[in-house]
Amino acid sequence: MERTPLRQLARRAVKGLIGQVASAFGLQIRSRQHDWADIASFIPFRDTLQAAKAAGLTVGDYIDGVMNGIPGATQATIAQVAAFGAISDRTRHIVEIGPGSGRYLEKVLELRTPERYQIYETANDWADHFASTYGVTRCPTDGCTLAATETDSVDLIQAYKVLSATTLLTTVRYWLERARVTRVGGYAVFDLVTEECLKPETVERRALSNLETGTYPATIPRRVAAVFFAGKGFQLAGSFFVPMGVGTTETFVFNRTHG
Ligand SMILES: C[S@@+](CC[C@H](N)C(=O)[O-])C[C@H]1O[C@@H](n2cnc3c(N)ncnc32)[C@H](O)[C@@H]1O
Repeated sequence: MERTPLRQLARRAVKGLIGQVASAFGLQIRSRQHDWADIASFIPFRDTLQAAKAAGLTVGDYIDGVMNGIPGATQATIAQVAAFGAISDRTRHIVEIGPGSGRYLEKVLELRTPERYQIYETANDWADHFASTYGVTRCPTDGCTLAATETDSVDLIQAYKVLSATTLLTTVRYWLERARVTRVGGYAVFDLVTEECLKPETVERRALSNLETGTYPATIPRRVAAVFFAGKGFQLAGSFFVPMGVGTTETFVFNRTHG
């Protein structure tokens, strides 16, 4: 494969890092120190910041274009979320679970400046960086509740490529919390590895991979989410697929239509 200047820069930036190659969460990264099975942490903090700087890119664009090889992927996701009506001039209070580098926030802010943006993130290095870079509110994070967020207060609660690794109990606890905090008219957006993401070819590729990535990928039938959120007053505005590792993940946009 021909090597682009960006790829060469990326290789230089991670010089000295050898051996283990992880292709988890849609990210292609080399590291000898990072524990890929620890899902409460994100990609290596300093290496990634340095590599993005060397490439002259924002961290988000670096992750999309260099690490994942899909330039514009985050932008495309946010554009679809907005097309479903989930980001508009009525979006005043946003909550994000597991923002990692903040690449989704970066794209949301190009469309809308909310009055409040709260984050729940278990990776301390990234959360501190994210909060100070973007001036968002970092909430105490116990890994399954949104305790600092008031009931019926949120216009958009989002999480991308987080529930593809959390255990079933963590996932459904966060679902319950989403239902609690979302106001009528608000949106809950998140992705899941559903049966639609597990076609035989993908199943085989996952089986043949030698990745050790803890609970990733965690899977759940799409119907379980649809029925659960319907019971909490949400309508499925739509869903779409985005690439993740060797397969895809299905992103859901739920609109709360009644209490
Ligand atoms: C695969 S990364 C995705 C990050 C970001 N959303 C993106 O797509 O670039 C998962 C993120 O969720 C965070 N995380 C994992 N478990 C969590 C939990 N229980 N509550 C909040 N954040 C969590 C990780 O630290 C990491 O930042």
